[in-house]
Amino acid sequence: MSSILTPGTRYNVGMDGSEQAPSEQAHYEHPYPSPELAAAHPFVEYAVERLPESEMLERARAFRVEAERRRSVRLFSPDPVPRELLEEAVLAASSGPSGAHKQPWTFVATRDPAVKAAIRAAAEEEERVNYLENRMNAEWQEALAPLGTDHHKEFLEVAPWIVVLFEQRYERRPDGTTRKNYYVKESTGIAAGLFITALHRMGLATLTHTPSPMAFLRTLLGRPDNERPFVMFPVGYPLDGVRVPDLVRKSLDQVFVEVDRPS
Ligand SMILES: Cc1cc2nc3c(=O)[nH]c(=O)nc-3n(C[C@H](O)[C@H](O)[C@H](O)COP(=O)(O)O)c2cc1C
Repeated sequence: MSSILTPGTRYNVGMDGSEQAPSEQAHYEHPYPSPELAAAHPFVEYAVERLPESEMLERARAFRVEAERRRSVRLFSPDPVPRELLEEAVLAASSGPSGAHKQPWTFVATRDPAVKAAIRAAAEEEERVNYLENRMNAEWQEALAPLGTDHHKEFLEVAPWIVVLFEQRYERRPDGTTRKNYYVKESTGIAAGLFITALHRMGLATLTHTPSPMAFLRTLLGRPDNERPFVMFPVGYPLDGVRVPDLVRKSLDQVFVEVDRPS
């Protein structure tokens, strides 16, 4: 029987540096994979290095601080960004979990000035209707007021890259047959989060942009009919001196609850 977590070195040192009792391996009545499953489908060992809790906390805090520094920007520098950096971010995004491992996403990137200009023009037209012709209701406009967003989207031409993340509503196989995808939005949303985080880690900036409705992106980028635009990401360096809204993020107790008894 193989287990998901290979028993490895166990550090028995608590956060306060005290010695702790060795942890016990759980005993499972229903091993995974079962012998039948392992005979039918390949499985591999997966091990995670156990770190001392003090180091876990150090890493967790360092990552949290870095994550908290990320901001969406709406003014980009025109400086070029090598395609290889985008590829790394897309691969990181594509490592995300997905329903039935369908990876139902496509990242479509362009740095072509004519394509970017066409995207800007179409996005500005949709946003003009949203902002100036009240397709966005008063409550929505009120929520957006502190951000000061409007229908001007110059950054879509200035940023060196536009990456449009498409969700694949279903899978179209090379032989023309189709297969269902599962939890498409959840999966694509997770990939989007990884993409944003990967860009941030390498010192790039982006904006999660949704000039709704976004159907024009499928036509402009020549994508097949199983794909639907999910989010658009202008990607580049932030413009020197860029300013962002001074937002306050929710505190831990507003976003985290522990339940300690059945309700
Ligand atoms: C799903 C989604 C859609 C968004 N759409 C837009 C958009 O169309 N235009 C825009 O300027 N910002 C958009 N944003 C960015 C948010 O306004 C921004 O993330 C939020 O104000 C928090 O700021 P921060 O990203 O700097 O932390 C969107 C964000 C998300 C997650």
